[in-house]
Amino acid sequence: MTEPHPLIRAEQAATTLTERLGAPPDVAVVLGSGWADSIVGLGEPVGEVAFDDLPGFPPPSVPGHGGKATLIDIDSMRVLLLQGRVHLYEGHAASVVVHPIRTAILAGCRTVMITNGCGAINPAYGVGQLVLIADHLNLTATSPLGGPSAPESYPIRFRDLTDAYSPRLRAIARGVDPTFAEGVYAGLPGPHFETPAEISMLRTMGADLVGMSTVLETIAARHLDAEVLGMSLVTNAAAGMTGEALSHDEVVEAGRDAGQAVGARLGALLEQLAAS
Ligand code: HPA
Repeated sequence: MTEPHPLIRAEQAATTLTERLGAPPDVAVVLGSGWADSIVGLGEPVGEVAFDDLPGFPPPSVPGHGGKATLIDIDSMRVLLLQGRVHLYEGHAASVVVHPIRTAILAGCRTVMITNGCGAINPAYGVGQLVLIADHLNLTATSPLGGPSAPESYPIRFRDLTDAYSPRLRAIARGVDPTFAEGVYAGLPGPHFETPAEISMLRTMGADLVGMSTVLETIAARHLDAEVLGMSLVTNAAAGMTGEALSHDEVVEAGRDAGQAVGARLGALLEQLAAS
């Protein structure tokens, strides 16, 4: 038997997700590294589905530590928090990396917030700072829209990516905090950090931020016409910027330290979105 198209798999997962939640969600938040603690005070869960229970989601790399989708209500807005992102560097195809976001969108989310932890190339950004993504450089050498063509009911794959990161949503975010910085995010496959020479190259190319996620999810979301807000938490200065070596532990720790402040900001942003 031939494998169903990834979008058909996502439709199947969306049907199961909606059944399990009882009603369609409105907004999805993809929680990146450093963001897990940010959801603690956001609201009481009103629904939860383990990724294990949804078709097409990859098995967890550590047994018992799979991802999950948690539903919370912010006023009358139903917000789906997606925890447990998978990455290209785990050996997954682009279609698998974007499966959770496609599932959320096909279940009803017309707005998606895509978050990540990243290195700062722009020296104006400090560790612990949140930066809105204004645009991206997809340096993964792949696209979730490659492969067999989508069923005819879907938009064509030659998607325009002008304003991929919604100016309207960025303006709403600046309504919460007028000092919110914006930057260009370079998405690389990883999992190693960059060399200082690569960071110099990325700076010349116009990047302010660097990480290993987000870009494929944004492309998949725009293909399905969802509105995207991208937000990066700076966990470290990029390679070669401080003279210090980069360490994964430091990146994780910076995320943990920023958890509460990030959560407050995320909560305020969701409230503003619900009111808009
Ligand atoms: N580079 C790439 N990805 C990252 C970094 C970085 O410096 N920090 C957190 N994710």
